[in-house]
Amino acid sequence: MSKIIFSALFPNFEKDDVFLSLKLIFSFWKWKNGPGIKELELTFQEKFGFNQCFSFNSGRSCLLAILESINIKKGDEVIVQGFTCNAVINPIIAKGGKPVFIDLKDNLNIDEKKIQAAISSKTKAVIVQHTFGWPAEIKEISDICKDNNIYLIEDCAHSLGAKYDNQYVGSFGDISFFSLGKDKIISSVFGGMVIVNNQELKIKEHDFPSNLWTLNQLFYPVLMEYLFLPLFKFRIGRLFYSLMFELNIFSLRSVVKKENQGILPSYFGKRMPNALAILALNQLRKLERFNKRRKEIAQLYFKEFKNSSIKTVFNEYYENKEPVFLKFPILINNPDKVLSDLRKDNIFLNDGWRETVIVPPLTNQDKMGYKKGECLLGEKISKQILSLPTHAKLSNKDIKRIALALKK
Ligand SMILES: Cc1ncc(COP(=O)(O)O)c(C=O)c1O
Repeated sequence: MSKIIFSALFPNFEKDDVFLSLKLIFSFWKWKNGPGIKELELTFQEKFGFNQCFSFNSGRSCLLAILESINIKKGDEVIVQGFTCNAVINPIIAKGGKPVFIDLKDNLNIDEKKIQAAISSKTKAVIVQHTFGWPAEIKEISDICKDNNIYLIEDCAHSLGAKYDNQYVGSFGDISFFSLGKDKIISSVFGGMVIVNNQELKIKEHDFPSNLWTLNQLFYPVLMEYLFLPLFKFRIGRLFYSLMFELNIFSLRSVVKKENQGILPSYFGKRMPNALAILALNQLRKLERFNKRRKEIAQLYFKEFKNSSIKTVFNEYYENKEPVFLKFPILINNPDKVLSDLRKDNIFLNDGWRETVIVPPLTNQDKMGYKKGECLLGEKISKQILSLPTHAKLSNKDIKRIALALKK
């Protein structure tokens, strides 16, 4: 039987992360508060030269805290790009704000040329997402925000370690955030970091999530390693996983069903608990290795698809950018059929970033405030996109196997 290849499932956790989670399950006194939190925030600050850093239990919680810090009120408009996750839109809605959608460019980032026209007297901020680790035109956007006296929020959920003009993304916005979610650049199962660059903005103190919630997250790496991944080889095992996923046992879902309907669960808006900060610190040590490997893998894909009919979204030449390639998106006809054919080859590439302008695909677009036709390129791309994995668990042979299967 050929090796199972997957994109979204458990890409970052290695044996030492799994053992660390196991140890933390039995160290209940370390779950909530502890020195790991400050250590993580200071390490982030020093490693990237950021100003102030505040850890949260997810990117969603970071964004909630950010919107509080800029005092978003009912009716305030926040500009976002089409082709984003409902995890970005729901915090805006939860704070009473109105998302205003702008179409994207070929590289899946916001079209900076369309921002000025979308700014109104109600616009409070622009959220700029560096999609899949490819930096957006952040300097030009920063100038637009300054000229119009609105806040620039950088969504760096996909782009830890990426640079624009030799400067880390996250350091351009008034305020920025990273995600340390399951399938991000590094992962503490759930987690996030706010970076405050504009000293006038204040992040208020938040509560910790419950110990039960934290324990659920600690179980995730252990269960994936010893139960779900071994079972994934078998059809019945995959069915079992799908059932557990559907029921969201042990927090297998990163986005729960009610978020598709515009409702955020109450465990968001919370601080990072100490146990997850310890996991994040362990992963942060691997960042350079992970990102180096992601770039190598991207180069392999570029080479494989050079003279083929498969259209790569990103460019081989980065100019003033240093992308980190969280994923390697391609555009093809009929991605549904391709996904199903690849599954027969034990290659599982459905990452949820497809089909709709606000993903995952079951997201109620009306509830997100998105009107059909607002982002035409976003709608077109979402029907053709398939994102290939770039994580460090993949060998060169695996990349060749994916490329070959796609070309076939
Ligand atoms: C672009 C983007 N922004 C923000 C988030 C929210 O991050 P988190 O999953 O850590 O809440 C996500 C992930 O879901 C994302 O993909």
